[in-house]
Amino acid sequence: MKTMPSFSRVLQVSNLHVEYATASGQTVRAVDGVSFSIDRAETLALVGESGCGKSSVARAVMRLERPAAGTIHLEGEDIATASERSLKPKRRRFQMIFQDPVASLNPRRRVRDILAAPLRVNGLYDADAPARIAAALEQVGLDPAYALDRYPREFSGGQCQRISIARALILDPGMLVCDEPTSALDVSVRAQVLNVLNTLRASLGLTMLFISHDLAVVRNVADRVAVMYLGKFCETGPAGVLLNAPAHPYTAALLSAIPQVTPDGSARRIHLQGEMPSPMQHQSGCQFRSRCPVARPRCAEVAPQLQPIEPGHEVACHFPYAIDANPSRIKEETQA
Ligand SMILES: Nc1ncnc2c1ncn2[C@@H]1O[C@H](COP(=O)(O)OP(=O)(O)OP(=O)(O)O)[C@@H](O)[C@H]1O
Ligand code: SF4
Ligand SMILES: [Mg+2]
Repeated sequence: MKTMPSFSRVLQVSNLHVEYATASGQTVRAVDGVSFSIDRAETLALVGESGCGKSSVARAVMRLERPAAGTIHLEGEDIATASERSLKPKRRRFQMIFQDPVASLNPRRRVRDILAAPLRVNGLYDADAPARIAAALEQVGLDPAYALDRYPREFSGGQCQRISIARALILDPGMLVCDEPTSALDVSVRAQVLNVLNTLRASLGLTMLFISHDLAVVRNVADRVAVMYLGKFCETGPAGVLLNAPAHPYTAALLSAIPQVTPDGSARRIHLQGEMPSPMQHQSGCQFRSRCPVARPRCAEVAPQLQPIEPGHEVACHFPYAIDANPSRIKEETQA
């Protein structure tokens, strides 16, 4: 089999724009100029409220959506405007795991055939294939003897998501794009699926773009985090930094929504007013200002740009750290 060249930078996205035309002739700017990169064996989490553009980024990276502008270098090659024909050999290098595990598996196929399908489609089904399929199931914690001849309906949601992960990994992809892989699952099995992904991340050196609306979920999975608001990144940085001392008021608010145990038994909550505006209604200045608890006049006049505030940590805010979200340091706004 041809060996793929090794790239330390698996994905490099620059100034990505994704737009949709509505039935009324308006343009939805779902992704409005985001740039990021992911290195081999690294996981970048994309977080933000519903409708902020997370899936649009993922769909553009997978080239399920053609970007309106920008470049997407996957393993060194720009696929942003590549033809479907030239994309075909690249597609197996980048696999996606969707939110609804049951819907993403063909209900009429046995697990054996579901896992064989990607190998067959790519001309890789050979004498070793049955052993690869069994090994892929074992990797996600499923017993091949039990699972191979069963149909998706015979498994729980968490088990179906494990089968989806096994199917994605069977082609030995360069990168996994996970779009809310646990949000459709019961809380009790969510941790199990996250554990499977984490174990595989360590053992296989997986490279992942991991999408979630929930900062609590990304805490254990991500190396770096990008927080998205209305089609733009408002804060990016190492997970440990951003989740412990966020600089952007929006990140601080998302973080404060996670139940926390504080030394004095209190829990701090930053209540966001209203909802994220429509991507068709851009306002002047900072897009977050109508909901920002610390907005000042300058925020209405000048749109903040993403800027480094320390190595590897970027923030789009005129007044970073105006909210200290560390519950052990903050006493005002504290609720019993
Ligand atoms: N096919 C489409 N046609 C028109 N607008 C769309 C389309 N897909 C997405 N949008 C709009 O683009 C914006 C971004 O949507 P997207 O699905 O990327 O957000 P998201 O962050 O993934 O949200 P969620 O957390 O709900 O999955 C939203 O305003 C959404 O309504
Ligand atoms: S720029 Fe102003 S409105 Fe925007 S997040 Fe920062 S403080 Fe809030
Ligand atoms: Mg989505």
